[in-house]
Amino acid sequence: MARQVNLLHEAGTPDQYGIVGHPVAHSWSPFIHGMFAIATAQNLVYRLFDIAPDDFRRETLRLFTSGVRGLNITLPHKQAAADLVNELTPRAARAQAVNTIAFFEDTTLLGDNTDGIGLICDLERNMQIDLADKRVLILGAGGAARGVIAPLMERELRSVTVANRTPMRARNLAAEFSDMGKIAGCSFAELQGPPYDLIVNATSASLQGEMPEMPAGLVDEETVCYDMAYGRGQTPFTTWAHSLHARRATKGWGMLVEQAAESFFLWRGIRPNTQPVLEALAKHA
Ligand code: ATR
Repeated sequence: MARQVNLLHEAGTPDQYGIVGHPVAHSWSPFIHGMFAIATAQNLVYRLFDIAPDDFRRETLRLFTSGVRGLNITLPHKQAAADLVNELTPRAARAQAVNTIAFFEDTTLLGDNTDGIGLICDLERNMQIDLADKRVLILGAGGAARGVIAPLMERELRSVTVANRTPMRARNLAAEFSDMGKIAGCSFAELQGPPYDLIVNATSASLQGEMPEMPAGLVDEETVCYDMAYGRGQTPFTTWAHSLHARRATKGWGMLVEQAAESFFLWRGIRPNTQPVLEALAKHA
């Protein structure tokens, strides 16, 4: 299936959008935004831009000056993108991480973060999970984790634990959000039961085919395990969750589509229906 969509169904030059990451070749965002554009009759093109961290600022600004109107930002650039823009939405300011940039005519570069709402939409609307009073474990303390902590904590969770390979990053992140409720940071080895209600993998370990080693006792048959990564077949995280008989082990296709719909809304003022895209992607999951 073509992942890159060039829409010329209306007269005129299509507006340019894309995603910046490193690596980024695996991204399904061009496919998703292509489907949204067709469904909502928007004349746009959406491309992949692989930009290394050292070049991120210069090359991303160059994209905007060459006419690009909006970008999604993925790993490892989400925190650097928060420093690049000259205005942040309240949710991106809270996260200090940006996954969507819109370039307006008055030259404002607005940074937003739609990851959190994307995850919440998938958990609550698509998976019918009630988050209230749940104990939540987030693995990872990078840009992906930053985007989802505040929207999760707004759901009146019982507690959040952030665990990371570099424990200091987890502790610092927890301290940043401690005004919102009960949250603590630790290393993977420091984790202990009782089993969590929800475990979200926000590390990029799956991209290297890895799953950090976890202590026993974190998962039982009531635990929902959600991998923010997506791909074909099982990820190391979903394999781990299945091996411990988790209630569900879900990959992040739904979050990907829902966050994309929010980005599309910021850029085009229309929120596309996500159902047809979710159904199309289910064939690839
Ligand atoms: P993203 O935008 O995806 O969060 P990032 O900011 O580069 O990207 O963060 C990557 C996260 O995945 C970090 O939490 C990182 O742990 P460190 O802070 O210790 O670097 C985590 N990560 C990456 N590879 C990992 C691996 N092989 N095992 C465990 N954690 C890993």
